[in-house]
Amino acid sequence: MAVRLLVVGPPGAGKGTQAARLCEKLGIPAISTGAIFRAHAAANDELGKLAASYTSRGELVPDEVTNRMVAARLDQPDTAQGFLLDGYPRNVGQVAALDAMLEARGIVLDAVLELTADDDAVVERLLHRAQIEGRPDDTEYVIRHRIHLYHETTQPLIDIYRSRGILRRVDGMGSVDEVFAKLTAALDGIAKESA
Ligand code: AP5
Repeated sequence: MAVRLLVVGPPGAGKGTQAARLCEKLGIPAISTGAIFRAHAAANDELGKLAASYTSRGELVPDEVTNRMVAARLDQPDTAQGFLLDGYPRNVGQVAALDAMLEARGIVLDAVLELTADDDAVVERLLHRAQIEGRPDDTEYVIRHRIHLYHETTQPLIDIYRSRGILRRVDGMGSVDEVFAKLTAALDGIAKESA
């Protein structure tokens, strides 16, 4: 049975880390808008240059660009068994765009996973990652701006999905294994492990 999920949470909450593990367990692709933008930036193509001009400042890439990219990704055949969206939608307009995409394809989201984390802890995690990976948006100034933008623009989405009865909140603090166990438990009754 196909399972369609999305994970939402502040920068550094562990969305990408946990999405990879969950997707491996469930046999579905992770669709991370941030990762797709970074891949285009690494290729230095037109989309990558445009995206980098926003991501490097911690600003959102314009909705029309992001929505078009996600719609094209959802049309790839590997999403037939489901998918996990990571980092999309990020504002109310993107929720409406995603609703339309899903409706046009005759599918619905099974669950929205909210991964929570303390602001100070995520700053620490991302500054640590900066030393290892050198992501251009992992400077303290940009990290704090991304956190601010999350609270202002993305957090309101939580109430939308809660009102639809599909929100599952998971505490993102603790070890990666502990958080994964909590996420797996939160999906009990929704997602079955792939064969
Ligand atoms: P995106 O890539 O989505 O960045 P983000 O939301 O800021 O999230 P991060 O990737 O920093 O963190 P994460 O929650 O995935 O945590 P991770 O697992 O990596 O987006 C980047 C940019 O692209 C945006 O700022 C925007 O410009 C643009 N963009 C993306 N989507 C967009 C959209 N929809 N619309 C418009 N623009 C968009 O973990 C972080 C670190 O913590 C890692 O080093 C990890 O190893 C470590 N870690 C993870 N879990 C734990 C744990 N439990 N304990 C200790 N360390 C941990």
